[in-house]
Amino acid sequence: MVLTVGLVLSLSCGFVTATINYITPSLGLNQSLEQSWAEYSPYYPASEYTAPPDGCSVVQLQRDGAHYPKKSDGKSIMNSVEQLQGAKSFNGSEYEFLTNFTYSLGTDDLVSYGAAQSYDAGQLHYTRYASLLSETMMPFVRASDSERVVDSALNWTAGFAFASNNQYAPVLSVIIDQSTNDTLDDNMCPNVGTSDDETEDWADVFAPAIADRINAAAPGAKLSNSDVVNIMTLCPLETVANEAPSPFCDLFTSDEFASFEYYGDLDNYYGNGYGQQLGPVQGVGYVNELLARLTGQPVQDETQTNHTLDSSPTTFPMNLTFYADFSHDSEMISIISALGLFAQPHALDTTQPNTLRTWQVSKMVPFSGRLTTEKLSCTAEGETGEYVRILVNDAVQSMYFCGDTGNGLCALDDFVESQEYARLNGEGDWALCTD
Ligand SMILES: *[C@@H]1O[C@H](CO)[C@@H](O)[C@H](O)[C@H]1NC(C)=O
Ligand SMILES: *[C@@H]1O[C@H](CO)[C@@H](O)[C@H](O)[C@H]1NC(C)=O
Ligand SMILES: *[C@@H]1O[C@H](CO)[C@@H](O)[C@H](O)[C@H]1NC(C)=O
Ligand SMILES: *[C@@H]1O[C@H](CO)[C@@H](O)[C@H](O)[C@H]1NC(C)=O
Ligand SMILES: *[C@@H]1O[C@H](CO)[C@@H](O)[C@H](O)[C@H]1NC(C)=O
Ligand SMILES: *[C@@H]1O[C@H](CO)[C@@H](O)[C@H](O)[C@H]1NC(C)=O
Ligand SMILES: *[C@@H]1O[C@H](CO)[C@@H](O)[C@H](O)[C@H]1NC(C)=O
Repeated sequence: MVLTVGLVLSLSCGFVTATINYITPSLGLNQSLEQSWAEYSPYYPASEYTAPPDGCSVVQLQRDGAHYPKKSDGKSIMNSVEQLQGAKSFNGSEYEFLTNFTYSLGTDDLVSYGAAQSYDAGQLHYTRYASLLSETMMPFVRASDSERVVDSALNWTAGFAFASNNQYAPVLSVIIDQSTNDTLDDNMCPNVGTSDDETEDWADVFAPAIADRINAAAPGAKLSNSDVVNIMTLCPLETVANEAPSPFCDLFTSDEFASFEYYGDLDNYYGNGYGQQLGPVQGVGYVNELLARLTGQPVQDETQTNHTLDSSPTTFPMNLTFYADFSHDSEMISIISALGLFAQPHALDTTQPNTLRTWQVSKMVPFSGRLTTEKLSCTAEGETGEYVRILVNDAVQSMYFCGDTGNGLCALDDFVESQEYARLNGEGDWALCTD
């Protein structure tokens, strides 16, 4: 299909001139290193944003910004560090800092770097989509009820308001309790499996050489494969927390970080993605909400949605042009997989990374990562129609499954048609979550 573009709506999606004052500081590290940290990579656009022909509405989903390790992860990281510090001696200047090092990261909360990235995202999205807004057409914002997710949403709304000179100050309208039906979290599928086997297999391949090297330089440390992974995690986590390169980054080579990235890729693929039978189904509720917003039809879903929330215009309006939701990385992986994005021709190999894979978590759900669905009204070959395109971190996704001919666009009807897995409530998978 050759797409010729005509201005159909009075709203067009051009950038506006706005007060932009980005506040995200530099972390002072080689960018390609920062981009090999899997889900711990700070946000970066995976591609340059290309404005759509003409936009009429936007549904945006964003994950939490850079944050401290989760409580349980923090404990095991601390143990691994103590083990390394317990070495009898260190051979190498890169280890010197360990003699005085004290682990001091908090737990769970957003760090200021993450808040800044979310604030800047708000500024960017205002400039990108301002023409969709008016005093009565404000972004409708929801968040999952986790403090760092709520803080990410609030920093985003603050950045959005700032860029508009406070003309548009969106409010966070709905905060969904994570112990109830919540389409922005993955807490409703107790039978879901884990990625432990796959990540352990890969750690068995890449970590022993690293452990041997460090154990030789730090006799007595006796690091295991999982200690190696824990200590590598401190490079990104300390860097985003302190806004300065962590000395832990210097203990590893860039090739070793490429292996670390693959560890994160496998963890997500087999934890919430295509490699987990009950992964994609946890994204179905959100996809059904997305279909409702795109088509203006009531939400039809028998998975994670809360029918009370989704049937009320106060908590689930459908007459607006801009929706922004804030969630977690693991839930976004489920949503991406329910949609059919980043499908791989072969399951990820646990013994060897396929360098041609598109499943790279740093490009999918980095800190503050985002998935944007744009509904467009275009004239193609003389016929006006409604189209959809999806961007993940600004990279337009190819959607061969609904007739995308290479420009990333699918006719709205074809897109809805293609989402059969969601429309059929996960084709039986949802029941397996609790049976
Ligand atoms: C320290 O490491 C270097 C190589 O990295 C090695 O040549 C040297 O023998 C080591 N020193 C000790 C005391 O083990
Ligand atoms: C560790 O701390 C001691 C005492 O404060 C100081 O003398 C020493 O230089 C420090 N070592 C390193 C490697 O920073
Ligand atoms: C959307 O619908 C709600 C509830 O029916 C109404 O209060 C609101 O004014 C409508 N907003 C717009 C922009 O039409
Ligand atoms: C932004 O996030 C920080 C946490 O890092 C939080 O303390 C602050 O209240 C948030 N800002 C707004 C405007 O809510
Ligand atoms: C649905 O949402 C309402 C309103 O927030 C809440 O009171 C209720 O507990 C939720 N129910 C379930 C099952 O999630
Ligand atoms: C950054 O790291 C990459 C990969 O390790 C390397 O190829 C590149 O030369 C580095 N760039 C700079 C400016 O150091
Ligand atoms: C919550 O989800 C369950 C499982 O799909 C469903 O049976 C129940 O009706 C939902 N409750 C609400 C209030 O939507």
